[in-house]
Amino acid sequence: MVDVEKIRADFPILEEKVYGKLLVYLDNGATAQRPLPVVDRMTEYYLKYNSNVHRGVHYLSNKCTDANEEARREVQHFIHAASEKEVIFTRGTTEAINLVAYAFGEAFVGEGDEILVTEMEHHANIVPWQMLCERKKAVLKVVPFDDKGELQLDIYEKLLTERVKLVGVAYVSNVLGTVNPVREMIARAHAVGAKVLVDAAQAIAHLPVDVQELDCDFLAFSGHKVYGPTGVGVLYGKEKLLEQMPPWQGGGEMIREVRFEKTTYNELPFKFEAGTPDFIGIVGLGEALKYIGKIGVAEAGRYEEELLHYAQEQMRQIPRLRIFGEARQKASVISFQIDGIHHFDLGTLLDQMGIAVRTGQLCAEPVMQHYGMTGMVRASLAMYNTKAEIDKLCEGLRKVEKMLNV
Ligand code: ALA
Repeated sequence: MVDVEKIRADFPILEEKVYGKLLVYLDNGATAQRPLPVVDRMTEYYLKYNSNVHRGVHYLSNKCTDANEEARREVQHFIHAASEKEVIFTRGTTEAINLVAYAFGEAFVGEGDEILVTEMEHHANIVPWQMLCERKKAVLKVVPFDDKGELQLDIYEKLLTERVKLVGVAYVSNVLGTVNPVREMIARAHAVGAKVLVDAAQAIAHLPVDVQELDCDFLAFSGHKVYGPTGVGVLYGKEKLLEQMPPWQGGGEMIREVRFEKTTYNELPFKFEAGTPDFIGIVGLGEALKYIGKIGVAEAGRYEEELLHYAQEQMRQIPRLRIFGEARQKASVISFQIDGIHHFDLGTLLDQMGIAVRTGQLCAEPVMQHYGMTGMVRASLAMYNTKAEIDKLCEGLRKVEKMLNV
């Protein structure tokens, strides 16, 4: 089992007070906190080694370059990619998906082709595909979910035809917490020749991700949701596919030779890494993966699952509270609403008690529309949360009910 107190000691922010109350941080789905080893390593690099990567012969540049390539191997190991060439550093999940939508789209999508996404995607796994479809006169189709928050796989099967070029699916929904059966969905998609992009933004810190076992074609995640820094993320792609895709952004690093007549491009993964990356962020991401790797993602996930069940049980005792997302396989997220209380009021009043939750449309308007909601409140868990914090949340919810007299 994870040693929660030991983990908490690595996250000084959890000792902070908000309005004089000890912080209860339950907005990990939006961004997780960073532990001391990550901050320390980044500080060390800023103070002692800051220098641009892959561009110098001097000591500092080599030091940063080596640290970046070590971080790439750390990512490779963490997601079990076959080669480090398959690990591309991006600014985050959103940029990773946009990269695929552009470069895969250029190479493989034409008029009348179809892209399939699910109704529970967050905006970053919807809008880039809409833009691609507009560019290419392709068609976007949507796999719906039922009221429990599970994908309607029979409809998925029907929508999967040879016209589908790519399926975009969240491993874990950021609103419903549903863990989608991506492995089976990928196998089905491959049977009709479609490729699959797995959005692992909400999964990466909560369940072990093995790209070879999943057999996904692409997978995206952000550093800041896995205890790493903001501004850095990863696109995994199968080498064969990445080789066939044109570069997305042009600039330094992605080139081999630049001539006004014709420019040639660098090899993988650099072909997709134009410009100076957030190289110290990348070092931080490598450290974050080492950190959670030592604890064990599976162990952290099991602890969070226990916490999730406890939280749902406690919250179900509150009569006017409705939880959205009751899938059999669920991870780390509880979105809810209390009848008669606006989500914004609920979030604001909880904040006054030192409890940080997210409110609003949660970057997933179609999910709101599914339930006819204008917004929800979301508590999202991390491996450093405790049952005592869940109790505080429930106590806070009861207080709000009383205050607002509902
Ligand atoms: N998509 C992120 C969230 O769910 C930002 O909060």
